[in-house]
Amino acid sequence: MRFSIYRYDPGRGGKPAMQDYELAPEHGDRMLLDALVRLKALDDSLSFRRSCREGVCGSDAMNINGRNGLACITPLTGLKEPVVLRPLPGFPVIRDLIVDMEQFFAHYHAVKPYLINDEPPPERERRQSPEQRAELDGLWECILCGCCSGFCPSYWWNPDKFLGPAALLQGYRFIADSRDTATAARLEFLDDVYRLYRCRSIMNCTEVCPKGLSPSRAIEKIRLKLLRHSL
Ligand code: SF4
Ligand code: SF4
Ligand code: FES
Repeated sequence: MRFSIYRYDPGRGGKPAMQDYELAPEHGDRMLLDALVRLKALDDSLSFRRSCREGVCGSDAMNINGRNGLACITPLTGLKEPVVLRPLPGFPVIRDLIVDMEQFFAHYHAVKPYLINDEPPPERERRQSPEQRAELDGLWECILCGCCSGFCPSYWWNPDKFLGPAALLQGYRFIADSRDTATAARLEFLDDVYRLYRCRSIMNCTEVCPKGLSPSRAIEKIRLKLLRHSL
């Protein structure tokens, strides 16, 4: 198989460039990550992140033939050649396919991604009805891979001010939680021309999420809540 991979090593002072590789996948190499691990055995300067190799940790997000995805759950069969691999668009590059996620996680922390409840805790647990619990489906499964934010034109232009689809989905995850008592404060924080309203409903985020989630639907629901909140 032929690969064309983005290479950049600021430590060596060179300019970014695409490098070609060839590899004969062996029996058992089913996913793109298998091929990358094999390529790294041939050229140990090639850098990328990975950990779980089964679509759970979110660390091997990259741009694969023009579309963001996770290398570990992208089958090699069916990939158009040369397979062009680039770092997540819109993120500062640290080296090769490794991007700087600092701002991405700063936005995530800004939405306070944890349950806030100022009422005295019950003896055993804060209960939810099955319907209330079902409201969290499609939200809790996010693995914070960044594929969505890295495919969002609004995030590319304003990565410092627009929270981006991943953080907004996480923000809605707690707004939607019946046990959380900070809904009003959460909505007030998001009610901002950049933080939330920079989303232009292009829906790239939903198109590329490897977990099948819909950040654009979560953003729509935040907008609806804000509308009702202000009435
Ligand atoms: S919403 Fe999907 S694409 Fe975005 S960070 Fe979560 S899992 Fe990744
Ligand atoms: S729907 Fe909003 S958050 Fe999603 S890609 Fe479009 S502008 Fe970005
Ligand atoms: S290596 Fe963990 S999601 Fe791919």
